[in-house]
Amino acid sequence: MSGHLRLGVNIDHVATIRNARGGVYPDPIRAALVAQEAGADGITAHLREDRRHIIDEDIGHLIGAISLPLNMEMAATEEMVEIALRHRPHAACIVPERREEVTTEGGLNAAGLHNNLKPLITRLKDVGIRVSLFIEPDPRQIEAALSLGAPVVELHTGKYAHSEGEDRAVELRRIADAAALAAKNGIEAHAGHGLTFDNVAPIAAIPQIAELNIGHFLIAEAIFDGLGPVVQRMRALMDASRPSTGSGSVG
Ligand code: PXP
Repeated sequence: MSGHLRLGVNIDHVATIRNARGGVYPDPIRAALVAQEAGADGITAHLREDRRHIIDEDIGHLIGAISLPLNMEMAATEEMVEIALRHRPHAACIVPERREEVTTEGGLNAAGLHNNLKPLITRLKDVGIRVSLFIEPDPRQIEAALSLGAPVVELHTGKYAHSEGEDRAVELRRIADAAALAAKNGIEAHAGHGLTFDNVAPIAAIPQIAELNIGHFLIAEAIFDGLGPVVQRMRALMDASRPSTGSGSVG
């Protein structure tokens, strides 16, 4: 695998900000359309059990609005399988989920959960959903994905992203080895979590990785790229409604 590396843009945290006020701003569907226009190859959204960001109706709205494939991240639960079967996203990425976690802190124990995962993966695959497993870059997990018949694995880059120096080099090697092992076994390798402008290049250079899924940093960085023009526009609207007062006058 080499050539074009796909970018899946995760829009969860647009919904996090929306939900902080319970209204409609900012709209994650609009964010998905902006990402599509800007060159994303896919949109990723994680429907969490606690609905802390993406909510049920977002999934249908996304599928209706975007022309890109939707990758729905989901826990291995009956409720989520039923939602996925109803909406038929292009892909479903099975992630471990704990209610109290801030984010998806580690990979799925695909080896230990074989009997739970097998029927669920089969049901998703039977309707044509491309199943991926979010796993640590560990050869045992790749072997487990192979025995589960998962066509895709997403390698968790969190440890890589949050380490430095020699520790980071070790993690990078684990990710590269896992991607190579997956590819050798006919499994497509994706990667994601904690990727930023500063740390993406070595991961993007791994030739067997076909797709990166990136969320939090992109939404965070968008604040700084976008806040200036938005404040200017509000300033202009306010000034335009007071034609007789010059800007900066104190009344
Ligand atoms: N891939 C998976 C499977 C994830 O669960 C997440 C986080 O929701 C990401 C990628 C994106 O991680 P981040 O938001 O840190 O870029």
